[in-house]
Amino acid sequence: MKRKRALRRKKIRIIILMIVLIVIGIYGYHYTNQDSYQLAKIGYQTKEINDLLKLDHDKIAVALKHDYHTHIPALLKEQYVIPAYLDRYLNYQKKHPELSMAMVVTMVNVNRDRDYYQQPKKTDTKKQTIMLVNKYYALTNDYTPQNLVTISNQYSYGENAVIKEVYDHYMDMYQAAKQQGLNLIVTSSYRDYEYQDELWKHYKAQQGQAWADSISARPGHSEHQTGLTLDIATYGSVFNDFTDTEEFKWMQEHAHQYGFILRYPEGKEEITGYDYESWHYRYVGVDVATKIKELKITFDEYYAYYIEHNKNS
Ligand code: DAL
Ligand code: ZN
Repeated sequence: MKRKRALRRKKIRIIILMIVLIVIGIYGYHYTNQDSYQLAKIGYQTKEINDLLKLDHDKIAVALKHDYHTHIPALLKEQYVIPAYLDRYLNYQKKHPELSMAMVVTMVNVNRDRDYYQQPKKTDTKKQTIMLVNKYYALTNDYTPQNLVTISNQYSYGENAVIKEVYDHYMDMYQAAKQQGLNLIVTSSYRDYEYQDELWKHYKAQQGQAWADSISARPGHSEHQTGLTLDIATYGSVFNDFTDTEEFKWMQEHAHQYGFILRYPEGKEEITGYDYESWHYRYVGVDVATKIKELKITFDEYYAYYIEHNKNS
């Protein structure tokens, strides 16, 4: 009888031990599959792991696929980071250690780790009012916008035209400014490939290629070819003299309500690739213009993050 009981106790102990071992096994299996364990295995320290684990899964996934790098947690934390560009960010940061991580992300997002005009991408004209044209995205020489509408010389100097949607929004903006006693005048608008070619060559002959590239787009690379762009001035104040006018101040506050953005702002030259142009306005539609104004970013940055990479936060 005693022996039987001892045997039963032994059996129970063995069963309990087996259960404990199974529980430990399951827990261990899960733990080693956890992101925190894998990140530690790559070489991240507790603080870095905690930072990384706060991020969205696509960002953690990219860190997990990568070797340890001291700058990865800081880069992946940046607001506009595009995880697929991680290696480009790391390379650019190495070449420009003086830049903040935010600036590294910005510059790579707008392709500044690549040379201007080298193998430009074709502008996706199907995106219509939110198509991107810059030193990395070009229109073909035969691209002509549909629905070009003439702007009468009551509102502009010389022959001018933009697409109908832009014309209608511009007229609304013009009238709203007029009601405040302000005068907007269009000085340039749609320009075809050949005309842009002549303009750029003219500037190049005047003061050399580097200067021409800082103020004028090469043919195919000008937003003026889209029919979505207007150069605006007021009486007596063209080009950057426009900055010091009431009309400019009004545009700063209200242009977005009509779908326009100042395309080459002061202080953003490294991002846009052009000198400040107080006169060059690009139509992107009211919603996008409003968002760009709120976020205080350029269209190049907006396009990279929100349009090309479809982020919507
Ligand atoms: N001035 C602007 C950059 C253009 O030529 O399109
Ligand atoms: Zn312009």
